[in-house]
Amino acid sequence: MARRKLVAGNWKMNGLTDDLGQVAAISIAAETLDVDVALCLPATLIEKAVRSAPGFAIGGQDVHPAANGAHTGCISAAMLLDAGAKLTIVGHSERRDAQHEMDGDVKAKAEAALHADLDVILCVGESDAVREAGNAVDTVSTQLDASLPPSIGEPHRFSVAYEPIWAIGTGKVPSMTDIGEMHSALRARLVAAYGDAGNEVRILYGGSVKASNAAEIFAVPDVDGALVGGASLTSADFVPIVQAAASAG
Ligand code: PGA
Repeated sequence: MARRKLVAGNWKMNGLTDDLGQVAAISIAAETLDVDVALCLPATLIEKAVRSAPGFAIGGQDVHPAANGAHTGCISAAMLLDAGAKLTIVGHSERRDAQHEMDGDVKAKAEAALHADLDVILCVGESDAVREAGNAVDTVSTQLDASLPPSIGEPHRFSVAYEPIWAIGTGKVPSMTDIGEMHSALRARLVAAYGDAGNEVRILYGGSVKASNAAEIFAVPDVDGALVGGASLTSADFVPIVQAAASAG
């Protein structure tokens, strides 16, 4: 099953109007490459980025499961779409941790986003302690099962990002064997949940992806792209990762 690679940047709480030049430069480089590219930006930049890089996939980093209402500080799927977003991340470990989001919340967010016609990147991943105890595959498989929406529509519009918490922003990366083992386990869970369509869902790796390790990571079976934090903030750091994905085919 050939799945087109997806490289998505997650700017987290970074980026001001002055940084839109980076979005434009990344979008121009992405146009020439045979790979899907997206940037998930702070909500304040989404509409501006869509204007400065027309046609390029701009996304949000979170979405509320409700359509509207008394949810101070939150953003709905319709609002993201209205700003021009094409996708959103759900279930990032920083939100699971700091905002106490549970698997059921993540599932509801994914459902709301898909229902509103946004593409979704759903994140899962284990802590250092879980990895050390030898329970990473079981724990992340269980987390995925409990976070998956009941149906996903077009499978290429739904992605899972495996992001070991201990690898995010630390410069540490699991061994390629460990990444391969996890991605293959997650593939099996996706096929169990969605049948053949589960083979079309992209499974991204995230956690300290850089230009220097991207090619090696993209060569691992069942790694269909990357979710990139720190190295997505500038075109100088991000474009080489996108190029590595394009070369990996
Ligand atoms: P990082 O972040 O690339 O800075 O490690 C990845 C993420 O949190 O999505």
